[in-house]
Amino acid sequence: MIDNQPAFVKHDELIKFVKETAELCTPSKIHWCDGTKQEYDSLCNLLVDAGTFTKLNQERWPNSFACNSDPSDVARVEDKTFICSRRKEDAGPTNNWVDPKEMKRKMKELLKGSMKGRTLYVIPFCMGPLGSPLSKIGVQITDSAYVVVNMHIMTRVGEKVLKMVGDDGEFVKCIHTLGAPLESDQTDVKWPCNPNVKYIVHYPDDRAIVSYGSGYGGNALLGKKCFALRIASVMAKEEGWLAEHMLILGVEDPKGRKTYVAAAFPSACGKTNFSMLIPPSEMKGWKVTTIGDDIAWIKPGKDGKLYAINPEYGYFGVAPGTNKATNPNAIEALSKNSIFTNVGITPDGDVWWEGLTDKVPEKIYNWRGELHDHSSGNPVAHPNARFTAPSYQCPSIDPESENPHGVPISAFIFGGRRTTTIPLIYQAFNWNFGVYLAATMGSETTAAAFGETGKVRRDPFAMLPFCGYHMADYFNHWLQLGRTIPNPPRIFSVNWFRKNKDGKYLWPGYGENMRMLKWIVERIYGEVVSVESPIGWVPQYEDIDWGTLDFSHEQFEEVMDIDREAWKNEILTHEELFCRMYDKLPKEFFFMRELLLSSLWRSTEHTLAPETH
Ligand code: OXD
Ligand code: MN
Repeated sequence: MIDNQPAFVKHDELIKFVKETAELCTPSKIHWCDGTKQEYDSLCNLLVDAGTFTKLNQERWPNSFACNSDPSDVARVEDKTFICSRRKEDAGPTNNWVDPKEMKRKMKELLKGSMKGRTLYVIPFCMGPLGSPLSKIGVQITDSAYVVVNMHIMTRVGEKVLKMVGDDGEFVKCIHTLGAPLESDQTDVKWPCNPNVKYIVHYPDDRAIVSYGSGYGGNALLGKKCFALRIASVMAKEEGWLAEHMLILGVEDPKGRKTYVAAAFPSACGKTNFSMLIPPSEMKGWKVTTIGDDIAWIKPGKDGKLYAINPEYGYFGVAPGTNKATNPNAIEALSKNSIFTNVGITPDGDVWWEGLTDKVPEKIYNWRGELHDHSSGNPVAHPNARFTAPSYQCPSIDPESENPHGVPISAFIFGGRRTTTIPLIYQAFNWNFGVYLAATMGSETTAAAFGETGKVRRDPFAMLPFCGYHMADYFNHWLQLGRTIPNPPRIFSVNWFRKNKDGKYLWPGYGENMRMLKWIVERIYGEVVSVESPIGWVPQYEDIDWGTLDFSHEQFEEVMDIDREAWKNEILTHEELFCRMYDKLPKEFFFMRELLLSSLWRSTEHTLAPETH
């Protein structure tokens, strides 16, 4: 069998990993990825020849490609995602668990011959800047060329990583197969996958991942959710750091001061937009720079501060809704050397998705590859259509994004998609209350997970689908971290999605979010006062820089309203989450819940009668 294993590779465990996987999966060829542009280009050409990729108009979209997935393979499959820790209680009640021995037997069965007729690619990849003490290495085996080219964009790939891992370095073992073996007389389909069987399996104790049956996004690009969140969260717990579903951005103020914050929002709540925010033009001297849009690895430094890196190297962003007004930086980042999945494609090699421009192109093929029927009411792009774009192409990329030591984090921001109840912004009273607010955060679901929309689900720290261990142990880990650092970052809650009774958004969002970010920065340095509310500290109307934004006192009151009845209900529903993990829940949470309830109740019952004289 052709096998281009580089001569310098002497890592026994790695060689054994590749050999054993190949023996089990029986590919026709083994290709060790070198990470070069040449390799990228030739695999893109191969995907064009296979009919998977459409080469886009090179003037409009240099070196870019588009493709449609199989309709059964459009999003992460949370119900088929498993954390197979040795003990069930280590996975906790919010993860699917199967005994690892049983799962390994099952996976062995499924993997047997699964790569027949295909090439087995070996992708050595590094999560985080090369040589950073915060970075970690993985090796992904895959039979998908689409995955290889996406991994080229999303991570640091190739020989340089193999050299870093050396003869005995640690690496996370990742096996991915489309689960679509190809017989010699069989012609391949454009998007091979297994439409019926999908499994995304994590073995935290072995630091290993096996993904079967899907070629899409987080199911298949194993550096992202599987490694950088699920496996890394376990490593982080054991080693005293944090692996979080957070963007990282820098705020430069008119004094030239730089402040970094990390923010957690559930999937498809605008993390990419927020991380690349462009402030309103009148906010002279304020600038936002981007470190990352999805994942943060955060470690306490010797000086007691928390330092963060973005383990990724590219963006796997939701395309619909992205345009020159909502996110000009993303539009620039994806303007070349990018891959589009499940967007619309015109006959002359242009791409389009809902929201890109006002008008749907006259003649366009939708994400299913059918000619779009304008009268059908169907979208052109799948709601979870994605762009894969290199982060170095983003105009707002922060100059420190390759700093191996990371950037110091001064605040954490948490926000869900909530049309009611949660005010635009508030600051937690302290670290513990902040951990409580993050743990009880909820969001209305969107298409990124299952294509289901509109239901509120509790999504603690936006980590519910991504925490590789018991969620209550995770809360304890956060509380414990706060105890060990002298001056932990401030914690804020934001909600850009509140609506009025007529269903209209109360807050304009996007670049205007800078006004809230400015308040956050000023709070960090104690430069602006706040007032106490039953749930935390809130800004006064006059302390927000409104500039030219026409936003009245009344509008502010409405978007900041803390409806005591709604909040009592909100807090009562925390019980549901707490009951699920009662045995391990931090005792602090019971007290904080009581304190919040009592402040909400007391303020109602002790309302003073109006003065009569
Ligand atoms: C993502 C997600 O793709 O959170 O980032 O689903
Ligand atoms: Mn995400």
